[in-house]
Order: sequence, then C-alpha cells, then structure tokens
Amino acid sequence: GQRALTPPDIAARKGKTPLVCLTAYTTPVAKLVDEHCDVVLVGDSVGMVLHGMPSTVGVTLEMMILHGKAVRRGLQSAVMVVDMPFGSYEESPAQAFRSAALVMTETGAAAVKLEGGESVAETIRFLTARGIPVMGHVGLTPQAVNAFGGYHIQGRGEDAERILRDAMTVAEAGAFAVVLEKIPEALARLITQEIAIPTIGIGASPACDGQVLVVDDMLGLFGTFRPKFVKRYAELADAADAAIMAYANDVRERRFPTADHVFGDESGTVSGGEG
Ligand code: KIV
Ligand code: NA
Repeated sequence: GQRALTPPDIAARKGKTPLVCLTAYTTPVAKLVDEHCDVVLVGDSVGMVLHGMPSTVGVTLEMMILHGKAVRRGLQSAVMVVDMPFGSYEESPAQAFRSAALVMTETGAAAVKLEGGESVAETIRFLTARGIPVMGHVGLTPQAVNAFGGYHIQGRGEDAERILRDAMTVAEAGAFAVVLEKIPEALARLITQEIAIPTIGIGASPACDGQVLVVDDMLGLFGTFRPKFVKRYAELADAADAAIMAYANDVRERRFPTADHVFGDESGTVSGGEG
C-alpha cells in the first residue's frame, strides 16, 4: 500500500515527529518491524545477538549480506540500513565504497551505517557523493570496544566536546542521520540542536529526534542482558522457555502428539501417507 520511505524522507523528519527504528536480522522479524517503524537497521549486533559472538568485532561482510538479504525480503515501507562491519571500511574511502556497493547490490539496502566521527568524515563524503546514503554512529561505538576497554557511557566530561565535534563532522560530511549511543542527556540535546540531520538515540535520552533498540533486547529474547537503556516490552525468552519445557514434558509423558496432530488413513491407501 504505502510508498516506501527513503533516506531523504528520514532526513526531512528533523524537528518533526520522532523517528522509530529497530534492528532486524531475519525475514519474519523484518515483516513485524516494517509495519511500525520508519527505519529497519540490520545491525552488526547480529553477531552477538544471533551468533553468540563476544563483540561485534568478528562480524564479516558476508554475515551482513546474508542477514541483509533476509531482511530485505520482509520489508515494504521502512528504510533499510545495513551496518558496515569492522574492517570493511576503515582503511580508505575506496575500500569503504567497494564494501558498501557490495552490500547495496547484494541486499537491496537503501543505505549503510558506519561508526566513527572525524576519522570517517572523508569516507562519508566519498560515499554520499557517489550515491550511497550513509547513517553515522557516534558516542559509544561498539566496534571500538577494545580501544574503549568496555561498553562504558561516553561523553561525560572532556570527552563531550569530541563527541559533539564528531556528530557535527558526520552531519557536514553528508550523512542523512546519525545514531547517538550511550551518552548523557545534556550532550544528546546539544548535538540534536546543533546539527541539521536527525539524531537517533540508543541510551541517549528522549532529547534525540528518534530512537533505536535492538529488537531482541526489547522483546526480552536476549537471555539475561539487561542494560539500563533498554525497556523490555515483552519477555519472550521466558515465554519460549515455558513453551519448550511444556513440549519436553508432553513428549516424555506421551501427551504429544495427540489425535489432533496425527495423520489418519483417510486417503484409503495404507502405505501412502500424506507427505
Ligand atoms: O548494531 C546495532 O544494532 C546498532 C544499533 C544498536 C544502533 O548499531
Ligand atoms: Na552496530
């Protein structure tokens, strides 16, 4: 029904109604998210959330392309953004273009996201000048976890000025929106006021132009990971645990399958079965 949104539509939402964004990594979840969101992000969080990796540093371009293809099949209206994984864009603008072009041609994504501020400004300028819309990501940038020494909040104290500068640089380089991750509210408000593109916050307060969460986190599907910035809208891991336990008990007690689930011999052939 409704026309598909584009990166320029997202940029034009600055100062208007809040932008709604969630991650997705699979077709069925992409279908659910597409119904209600403006932006669907195939985040490199897929490595931790679906593949059990200890951080996003080990995520590959091949993984992003595989999950990007799956998500694309589930979308009709939301803007699809695919994360550039660690190692696929930092070396040079040319390397970034090759990786991003591969992501876009293979997956049908409308845009890519990459982490960093001043260090990636030249790359953002290079990609946007060549037809690749870019979403920025500043503040806590998880691909730099080894440099940060953990996932602590960024932008408290002196650090704030650097993050403001990073956000301004990313916006001036041509990004159509920027994720602000895990920074204090006052800094998020300042950045949102100072730059011309929408800010999309995760752990960055309601002062942003939009919000993003990892869908498995907000659905309560991701084990015991409970950061302060995630609101749980469901407890699907608990529901799944109860369902799997009930199934296991039913099989052990021979309560499943019952007549409802059994193929009879209605076709009149004894050996045929119904496939
Ligand atoms: O990988 C991811 O899911 C992200 C969002 C949380 C912003 O980068
Ligand atoms: Na990410």
